[in-house]
Amino acid sequence: MNVIDAINKRRSIRKFEDKPVEKEKIDLLLRAAMQAPSAVNEQPWEFIVVEDKDTLEKLSHAHDYAMAMKNGTLAILVLANKNYFAIDSLWQQDLSAASENMLLEAVELGLGATWMAIAPIEDRVAYIRDLFNLPENIIPFNMIAFGYPTKEKDFDDRFKADRVHYEKY
Ligand SMILES: Cc1cc2nc3c(=O)[nH]c(=O)nc-3n(C[C@H](O)[C@H](O)[C@H](O)COP(=O)(O)O)c2cc1C
Repeated sequence: MNVIDAINKRRSIRKFEDKPVEKEKIDLLLRAAMQAPSAVNEQPWEFIVVEDKDTLEKLSHAHDYAMAMKNGTLAILVLANKNYFAIDSLWQQDLSAASENMLLEAVELGLGATWMAIAPIEDRVAYIRDLFNLPENIIPFNMIAFGYPTKEKDFDDRFKADRVHYEKY
């Protein structure tokens, strides 16, 4: 699949078949995440892979917009480990790049996915920190629901020529 085809095909999928994601596909998602660019190549990410139904249900209560988490068969939590920070302020950008890589790899693998934000919203961070008993140096950044989609969504063309400025604003 061409990169632009995966980009255009990617939509947030919140309804999934009751079919587990194969271990090989989970590994490919994680490999895609860890190939992302990061500030001074700090690679500050860690991941928690969740397939347990009870834990997925608990994740769906992390906040009001996380309900779809219980529809999926897999969640990957994207975490920052402060011990790997070379530049304290750029980890969110690193973890966003890793997250988007997983969303695009999911398209390639025939999976659907939805990114659900955690940090920097304090009560969400506290909920996930408590659920997984995370040490102080670990920051939960987001959680991504994955699974086989029950149906695909249409391409939504979002190109707006008036948002682009050439040479000056
Ligand atoms: C930072 C971020 C946070 C998001 N948080 C949630 C969320 O909590 N729950 C959810 O269902 N979708 C969430 N989304 C998905 C967006 O709602 C979705 O990307 C947007 O509506 C555009 O639709 P599309 O992904 O189908 O193109 C989030 C996306 C991003 C990038």
